Amino acid sequence: MIVVLLGAPGAGKGTLASALKDQLKVHHISTGDLIRAEIKAGSQIGLEIKKCVESGALVSDEIVTRMIKGKIDSSVADKCGYMFDGFPRTNAQAADLDKILKGHGLSVDFALLMEASTDVVLARLTGRRVCKACGALYHLTNMPSKVAGICDACGGELYQRADDNKETILNRMTVYAESTKPIIDHYKSQSKLRVINADKGAEAVRQEMLKILDEKKS
Ligand code: AP5
Repeated sequence: MIVVLLGAPGAGKGTLASALKDQLKVHHISTGDLIRAEIKAGSQIGLEIKKCVESGALVSDEIVTRMIKGKIDSSVADKCGYMFDGFPRTNAQAADLDKILKGHGLSVDFALLMEASTDVVLARLTGRRVCKACGALYHLTNMPSKVAGICDACGGELYQRADDNKETILNRMTVYAESTKPIIDHYKSQSKLRVINADKGAEAVRQEMLKILDEKKS
C-alpha cells in the first residue's frame, strides 16, 4: 500500500501516520522529520535549509526529492508499502514521486486529503509538543503526556518546534495554499484522491482512513 497524506500544517498528518504505520506495515516517511534531522546534524545541507524551515518557506524540490529517493531506493527491497507525510508538496515533487515509484514498478494507491479548519490547525500547532528523543507527538490539551514535559513512550524531554509560532504558522498556511493545494488536482485526475474531515478526533480520523484504505482489498 502506498499512501500520500495531504493537508495543511497541523491537519494531523504525522499523528495519523504514526497511528497507522504498524497496522498497515508501511514505512512512514516524513520530509519534515528528515529535514529537521539534517538541520540537527549540522550538515552543509542542514545549514542551507535551516532558514527556509524557520520562516515557513519550502526547501528546494531538488533537495527534498533527493532525500525521498534515497529513502525509497534503500527500503524498496523489503516490499513494505509507504505512507508519505509532507511529501509531495509541489507539482514538481508529485511528478518526481510518480517517476521514482515507476522506476520500481510501483505507484501511489491513495492520496488522502486531510481537511481541517483554520481555527483547529492554529490551536493544534500552538499546543503541539514533540519528544526530543523519539519524535512522539503530543498536544497540551488534546493529547497531553501523563507527566508534563516528559514523553510517555521513552521519558525524553518535550519541546516546541521552532516553526510553531503564530507568525511562521500563518506563513506555512499561505505556502500550503499557494504551492501544495494545486497538487490535489494531480491526484484527482488519477482518481486517487479521497477527502477526510480532519477536524474530528484522531481516533475518528483513523477509522475513516482505514475504511478508505480497505477499498484496495475489495
Ligand atoms: P512538516 O514537518 O511537514 O510540517 P507541516 O506540513 O507544516 O505539518 P506539521 O508537521 O506541522 O503538521 P501535521 O499535519 O503533521 O500535524 P501533527 O500530526 O503534528 O514540515 C516543516 C517544514 O519543513 C516546512 O514548513 C518546510 O519548510 C519543510 N518541508 C517539509 N516537507 C517539505 C517538502 N516536501 N518540500 C519542501 N519543504 C518541505 O499534529 C499537530 C498537533 O495536533 C499535534 O500536537 C497533535 O497531537 C494534534 N492533533 C493531530 N491530529 C489531531 C486530531 N485529529 N485531534 C486532536 N488533535 C490532533
